[in-house]
Amino acid sequence: MTTPTKTATLTLNDQTYDLPVLTPTLGPDVLDIRKLYAQADVFTFDPGFTSTAACESAITYIDGDKGELLHRGYPIEQLAAESSYIEVCYLLLYGELPTAEQLADFRGRVSRHTMVHEQMHYFFRGFRRDAHPMATMVGVVGAMSAFYHDSTDINDPWQREVASIRMIAKLPTIAAMAYKYSVGQPFVYPKNSLDYAGNFLHMCFAVPAEEYVVNPILAKALDRIMMLHADHEQNASTSTVRLAGSSGANPFACIAAGIACLWGPAHGGANQACLEMLREIGTVDRIPEYIAKAKDKNSGFRLMGFGHRVYKNFDPRAKVLKESADEVLELLGIHNNPTLQVAKELERIALQDEYFISKKLYPNVDFYSGIILDAMGFPTSMFTPIFAISRTVGWIAQWKEMIAEHNQKIGRPRQLYVGEPMRNYVGVAKR
Ligand code: ACO
Repeated sequence: MTTPTKTATLTLNDQTYDLPVLTPTLGPDVLDIRKLYAQADVFTFDPGFTSTAACESAITYIDGDKGELLHRGYPIEQLAAESSYIEVCYLLLYGELPTAEQLADFRGRVSRHTMVHEQMHYFFRGFRRDAHPMATMVGVVGAMSAFYHDSTDINDPWQREVASIRMIAKLPTIAAMAYKYSVGQPFVYPKNSLDYAGNFLHMCFAVPAEEYVVNPILAKALDRIMMLHADHEQNASTSTVRLAGSSGANPFACIAAGIACLWGPAHGGANQACLEMLREIGTVDRIPEYIAKAKDKNSGFRLMGFGHRVYKNFDPRAKVLKESADEVLELLGIHNNPTLQVAKELERIALQDEYFISKKLYPNVDFYSGIILDAMGFPTSMFTPIFAISRTVGWIAQWKEMIAEHNQKIGRPRQLYVGEPMRNYVGVAKR
C-alpha cells in the first residue's frame, strides 16, 4: 500500500481533520479519505466517480490531458508499432515483456484452450438467431462457470491462472460462434496453427465448403485493434468486473458482468453506434445538420465516437487507428469509401468547432475501429463483441490484481439519501 507523503487538512464544523495524501508514480496526488467517515461522520459525494480512485493499480496509466496511454509503463504507440496482442496480454497479466521462450510458452498455453466444451454448442441453439451477439456472449460467458468448475475457486492462484487463460482463449471462439449462429452457418472450430487474430478471422469467415486463407494484412490490422483495446485503467466495465469480483464471485461471472457493462452505447457499444451514425449521415453535405443536433441539448443526440471521460486531448488509440484505417482500405482496394469520407470531414469540422473545442471533445478509439472492422466484412453487431474479446485480458489482469491484494474489501459505495424521512405505515383502506 502506498505510504502518505504529506497531509491535507479538512475543516468542518470548527473541527480539523488530517487527511493523508498519497503520491502515485505518475498522475495527481490522491487524498486518502478511508477513515473520514469514522472520524468526521461525513461521506464524500462523487457520482460517476469523476474524482475518486477506487483502487491501487500498477497495470495501466492514462494522462488524459496529454493523450498518453501506458501499459506497465510502455507507451501504446510503441506497443502498437512493435508488439502483438498476445505479447501485450502477457505484459498486462505478468507485468513485464516476455522473453522469446516465455512468449512461446504463453502462446502455447492460450492456444491449447481455444475449444469450448462440446455441450456448450447446445447452449447457443437456445438463443434466437437474431439475438445480438453481445446478448449471447453475456449468457455464454456467464455459463462458463457451469462448465469449468475446476477453475472457479478464487482463493487458489492456480485456478485463477487457468480461468484467466481459458477466458482469453475461449472468448474469440464464443464470439465467432455467436456470429456463425446469427448467420445460420455451422460453427467453425479454432485452428491453433493460426495466430490469435488470424484464428478469429478463420472462425468467423471460414465455411466447410471452401478453403479459407487468412489475409495476413487483415490479421495484423485486427491484432492491432485488439492491442489498442486490451486495457484502459478503471473504466466502467473494468470497475464492474472489480466490483463483481470484490464479493468473491467466480471469474467467469465477473467477466460476464464486464461484458454486460461494455455493451452500453456510452462505452463499448459506441463503435457500433458510431458506424451506424456515419452511415446515417451518409454524405458530407449532411454533416452540419448532425453537428447542430449534437450541440442541441434538447435533441438527446451525441456525436458517437467523440468525447471521453479521461481524454481531454486526442485519444492516442484513435491516432493509431486512423492510420490503420487508411492502410487497410488501401490494401483492400476500397477507394472513395463514403463512410470514411464522412468520418474524415466530420472530424475536421468538429475539431474546428467552438463547442467541441471548448468541451475538449476529440475523436476516441471507436471513431475509426468501426471503419476497419466494416472493411474486413464484420457486421456492426460484431464490433462490440470484438472489443469484449480484446478487453477480456485487461479485465482479468485487473481482477487478478485485486484478488491478490491483502485486505481486499467488498466494493460498497454509500449514497446521499434524498428520499422521505421515516414515516408510519398506513393500511390500504386508509390511504
Ligand atoms: N457529442 C456532443 N456533446 C458531447 C459529447 C458528444 N459525443 N460528449 C460529451 N458531450 C458534451 C456533454 O453534453 C457535456 O456538455 P455540458 O457540459 O454542456 O453538459 C460535456 O460535453 C461533457 O460531457 P459528459 O457527458 O459530462 O462527459 P463524460 O465524461 O461523462 O462522458 C462520454 C464521456 C460518455 C464518452 C461522452 O463523451 C459520450 O457520450 N460520447 C459519445 C459515446 C462514445 O463515443 N463513447 C465511447 C467512449 S470510449 C470507449 O468506451 C472505448
